Amino acid sequence: MRLRVIVAERISEEGMSTLGASLDVTEAFDVDRDGLLSAIAGYDALVVRSLTNVDRELIERGKKLRVVGRAGVGVDNIDVSFATSRGVMIVNAPESNVVSAAEHTMAFMLALARNLPAADRELRAGTWPEAKPHGVELLGKTIGIVGLGRVGSAVAVRAAAFGMGVVAYDPYVSDERFRTFGAEKLDSLDELMRRSDYVSLHTPKTDETYGMIGEREMSLARDGVRIINCARGGILNENALVTALESGKVAAAGIDVFDSEPVADHPFFRFEQVLVTPHLGGSTEEAQARVGSTVAEQVIEALSGRLPRYALNVPLTDVETLSHVEPFMPLTEALGSAFTQLFGLPTAGVEIRYGGEIARYRTELPTLSFLKGLLKPIEGDEVNLVNGRFLAEEKGIEFTESRTTDAGSFTNLITVRGRDGFRGTLSATLMAPGSFRMTEIGGFEVDVVPKGTVLIAWFDGGAVDEPGIVGRVGTMLGEAGVNISRMEVGREVIRGRAIMVVSPSGDVPAGAVELLEEHPGVSEVRLVRLADLTT
Ligand code: MLT
Repeated sequence: MRLRVIVAERISEEGMSTLGASLDVTEAFDVDRDGLLSAIAGYDALVVRSLTNVDRELIERGKKLRVVGRAGVGVDNIDVSFATSRGVMIVNAPESNVVSAAEHTMAFMLALARNLPAADRELRAGTWPEAKPHGVELLGKTIGIVGLGRVGSAVAVRAAAFGMGVVAYDPYVSDERFRTFGAEKLDSLDELMRRSDYVSLHTPKTDETYGMIGEREMSLARDGVRIINCARGGILNENALVTALESGKVAAAGIDVFDSEPVADHPFFRFEQVLVTPHLGGSTEEAQARVGSTVAEQVIEALSGRLPRYALNVPLTDVETLSHVEPFMPLTEALGSAFTQLFGLPTAGVEIRYGGEIARYRTELPTLSFLKGLLKPIEGDEVNLVNGRFLAEEKGIEFTESRTTDAGSFTNLITVRGRDGFRGTLSATLMAPGSFRMTEIGGFEVDVVPKGTVLIAWFDGGAVDEPGIVGRVGTMLGEAGVNISRMEVGREVIRGRAIMVVSPSGDVPAGAVELLEEHPGVSEVRLVRLADLTT
């Protein structure tokens, strides 16, 4: 059966047809919140723009929900941390409407500089103006850009092309980025307010940025400053702007976004010098076509179990790093799952150590798949790459990650070890993509393909060294219906404790484990079921 997606706000035809090629699509453009709340339980994916509130209640009702696609960049309408705790991946399309949002900002800036709305209104009312100045030039003016991310930097480049001086404030980007986009770096928002003829906002809406341009900041601005907000409503305190417009401190404003949307009436509407648009920054034909197809592709990727490029609540790395670490992810997942099945959930804590060439890269992703594997025997399909870390923390499992260039005789070696008195260690190596070997179980050297079902038995000192033991256990398991494809013994010292690893070609019939447990010398038996991880 095909997976189902509900699209709550209109996206481009390109996006709808991409979704429709692999999923069952329901259009819910005119469905209200109550309708969405009652429908969501039947869907694997939800696609929204900025008007749908994807809050805790909606996510909780989405019992099957695996991914929310945000057709656009801002996710302030989505409770990302709750979605993460529920294992719901959030994907967006952050690059698709950058140019459109930057061009909308430029359109505001030009329109405000030349009083275009007033000119339009006057002419329609039959007034041909006398030869008086109608506006100011951008050339030589200073634009202060708050937030030098994708859109802010695109605005910087465009403003420079108009001969403007560009200053910017963004404590989260490198000096290099300021240089690349030709913006003078300012150390404070206050300084930006003092220096700018135009202030343009380009930050996401977060607890930190909400209300960041308020009464105090506006009081610092140059008299007659023009302010543009094509980012998110609320970053600019709306009441403070009304006061500053009334006093003339702010000469004009271009507002595309509002604290609460949609708006039918607003205090800004009474000011002729405020140009308003209904959140149109990303609404060009080109941007919407790109946004729709990108979000559709991301949703499909997420539902197919792959890592979408724009997953917001999975720590993605650059493509180069990903190409090196991704092949290790099935291996670390197998290690996690095998660890819990062999030794139990390491509630005291666990360490994952990356040795050899893998240690040169960032390993958050393989660690996430390790945590997913670790919890899978307990949580089943509830755990995934998105919520593995959250669920582990919730269970109080402290995990650490370490890296070393030392991988013994292997090119890479990943070792998992219980911490703080929790017993158990496991090691494995990746020989080639899709080809792994477990090299150590609980201190015993082995050479096991972590695939399908593996039967592991610990023998007390000496027992496994008796001549004929392998044959006897093999015959006994054969009689119990176990079709053995591989069997090996790992031992600490001659006649010391030993481990026997049996890889059956099919499943292990009921009763075989108990039979083996009763075999003389056997102290413990575990059946480890692993998904088929090798190619
Ligand atoms: C965005 O977040 O992508 C833009 O504000 C446009 C939109 O919300 O659709």
